[in-house]
Amino acid sequence: MNDKYHETVLVEEVVSALHIEKGKKYIDATLGNAGHTMEILGKGGQVLGIEIDPKMLTIAEKRLEKEVVDKKNCKLVQGSFTDIDKIAHGSKWEKVKGILFDFGVTNLHLKDSERGFSFGNSEAPLDMRMDPETQGVKGSDLLNLLREDQLRELFEITLDPGSAKWITGRILHSREAKPIEKVGDLVEICQGLRSSKTGLNEATLPFLAVRIAVNSELTNIKETLPKAFDLLEKGGRLVVISFHSKEDVLVKNFFKEKIASGAHAITFRPVTAGGAELEANKRSRSAKMRVLEK
Ligand SMILES: C[S@@+](CC[C@H](N)C(=O)[O-])C[C@H]1O[C@@H](n2cnc3c(N)ncnc32)[C@H](O)[C@@H]1O
Repeated sequence: MNDKYHETVLVEEVVSALHIEKGKKYIDATLGNAGHTMEILGKGGQVLGIEIDPKMLTIAEKRLEKEVVDKKNCKLVQGSFTDIDKIAHGSKWEKVKGILFDFGVTNLHLKDSERGFSFGNSEAPLDMRMDPETQGVKGSDLLNLLREDQLRELFEITLDPGSAKWITGRILHSREAKPIEKVGDLVEICQGLRSSKTGLNEATLPFLAVRIAVNSELTNIKETLPKAFDLLEKGGRLVVISFHSKEDVLVKNFFKEKIASGAHAITFRPVTAGGAELEANKRSRSAKMRVLEK
């Protein structure tokens, strides 16, 4: 386990799917700590890297500074991939050969005990914003302000309806006594939740639902895939890695729509990690990669 950097998933699969050609342009729309970007640069591609989290962008910049000899082929922008069209135009990165999305957060987000992404530090604020400078609503705000039906809908992103109803009831009860503010408050609320997935901590899926809602992760995907597809040159490829069934279904449906109007499916079933990667990197277990060619 590499403690310093996020462990990049499906590296060989992504490199092969992107068909990297020397001097051609690519967009890494979820830069993270530049794991995939370094591979593309290593094969001679030019990369525009987009990262929403300013802290993560700094980590990526430092890593590239240290580990990549020739940085002229790489341009990094802080922003949301929902603005991929504007960012690409502003960077003169139009008609690209390949675009990669590797959704979610990094190990570094989960290990950052101050940001509330994981339940490790019960005293941390329940924040979970990927970009605290532009996003106003924290996880605790949602749990304190949403109506009952809205809370149920939020938790149904990752939980079955019965569990979502159960946890909503606990939240309504808890916030009557005092506002929900810390990671520990939500951990306590989750105690006794029967998770439908064995082996998972009872707080894992509720925390994931709150994170997805705080960062509008599903709407962002829906809004962005068409913009990304438009940026591809003919024969260009869209490579998308998702980690959650609700993400994957959005990708699958978008790909279906495009295939019906002439795009080519490169993967007929999602590509998943092989034995060695599954052993080495726990996160790779839920990774699903789909590839589409324009
Ligand atoms: C799974 S990580 C990517 C890891 C990266 N492929 C690597 O190998 O280092 C996902 C990254 O996307 C970023 N991200 C999430 N939502 C985003 C958005 N709307 N726009 C841009 N970046 C986003 C997260 O902050 C996180 O760093």
